Amino acid sequence: MQIIPPCFFALFLTNLICLHLSSAYNILYQVCSSTRNESANSTYSFNLDKLLSSLSTEAVAKRGFHTNTIGAALDQISGLVLCRGDVNSSICGNCINQSFTDLSNLCPYSTEATIFYDFCLLRYSNQQFLNSTDNSQQVYKVREEGQIRNNSRSNIAAKNYFNNEVNTLLSSVSNQAAYDSKKGFATGIIYITEPLPVIYGLSQCTPDFSSNTCHACLQDLLDQMPKRFDGWKGGRILGVRCNLRYEIFPFFDGNPNLQIGSISEASATGDQPTQPPPMNSPSSTSKGD
Ligand SMILES: *[C@@H]1O[C@H](CO)[C@@H](O)[C@H](O)[C@H]1NC(C)=O
Ligand SMILES: *[C@@H]1O[C@H](CO)[C@@H](O)[C@H](O)[C@H]1NC(C)=O
Ligand SMILES: *[C@@H]1O[C@H](CO)[C@@H](O)[C@H](O)[C@H]1NC(C)=O
Ligand SMILES: *[C@@H]1O[C@H](CO)[C@@H](O)[C@H](O)[C@H]1NC(C)=O
Ligand SMILES: *[C@@H]1O[C@H](CO)[C@@H](O)[C@H](O)[C@H]1NC(C)=O
Ligand SMILES: *[C@@H]1O[C@H](CO)[C@@H](O)[C@H](O)[C@H]1NC(C)=O
Repeated sequence: MQIIPPCFFALFLTNLICLHLSSAYNILYQVCSSTRNESANSTYSFNLDKLLSSLSTEAVAKRGFHTNTIGAALDQISGLVLCRGDVNSSICGNCINQSFTDLSNLCPYSTEATIFYDFCLLRYSNQQFLNSTDNSQQVYKVREEGQIRNNSRSNIAAKNYFNNEVNTLLSSVSNQAAYDSKKGFATGIIYITEPLPVIYGLSQCTPDFSSNTCHACLQDLLDQMPKRFDGWKGGRILGVRCNLRYEIFPFFDGNPNLQIGSISEASATGDQPTQPPPMNSPSSTSKGD
């Protein structure tokens, strides 16, 4: 497979392009810890290198998800990589490789590390975590651009309405991801009236989870939303095993798997959509793919 690193062409073009493309691989969050210090030449470090390179190759080959365990006893190391369900193999491979580079700079000789990007996440540990459904190492983010405030009666009404719509969207998208998708991934949109015409949402579990396990994982994130995302016009909760995100602009590739409401309902009472979302069929419930 021919895969081009994000800044490769930029050497010959302009820095602007490089910055733009590499921003897709900005670290959202990383955490590393060491229960012991590994040296560059230890068996553990050797196993780690072997693990990372297998994760990259296999995840790209297996459409975005792979786990592996290398070595034995104290030098055993397990890893997991997950690419966002809508990204293609070049973006997935570039993102995973970027994570190796970043981890070797930020977490040298760590026995355990987790790193999140827009398009992928990676976790490795000397603890065997692959047979667990634990979704710890969670991080949440809101969009800095705006929160509907509690400063007037109409704002409070607008905020409650917005929160409800976000919840309706992400509950439905999470159901779709858990019970009606091929790889635990689904996207959706909901038409609203205020403050913007459309909310975009995404839910994902690692595809090794059963439907019920995936749903339970996402439900735990949904339960946190009222306290995390009160009125925020975008947000995400990232975990190693499942994650969700919503925005008031399109941020995923391809048609949404789920559409709630319609443009006409929304525009009857509110704003006209400035930018109709990509869509092939109304109330589409095609399988996430
Ligand atoms: C590992 O080495 C670093 C630098 O020498 C030191 O600061 C740290 O405390 C050590 N960690 C452990 C777990 O021994
Ligand atoms: C690691 O091994 C290489 C080759 O055997 C050697 O040159 C290097 O000095 C070793 N580094 C450490 C930190 O032991
Ligand atoms: C992967 O997706 C990116 C962004 O959508 C696109 O620019 C690129 O051409 C795609 N690559 C392949 C091999 O499809
Ligand atoms: C990622 O790293 C692997 C292993 O080092 C390599 O085979 C592959 O070509 C790299 N992919 C990209 C997109 O650079
Ligand atoms: C996971 O696997 C490890 C090693 O194989 C084992 O020690 C641990 O008990 C297992 N945990 C669960 C929850 O099955
Ligand atoms: C807005 O009001 C609600 C209900 O009184 C309260 O729970 C929430 O913390 C307030 N939010 C902000 C941002 O002040």
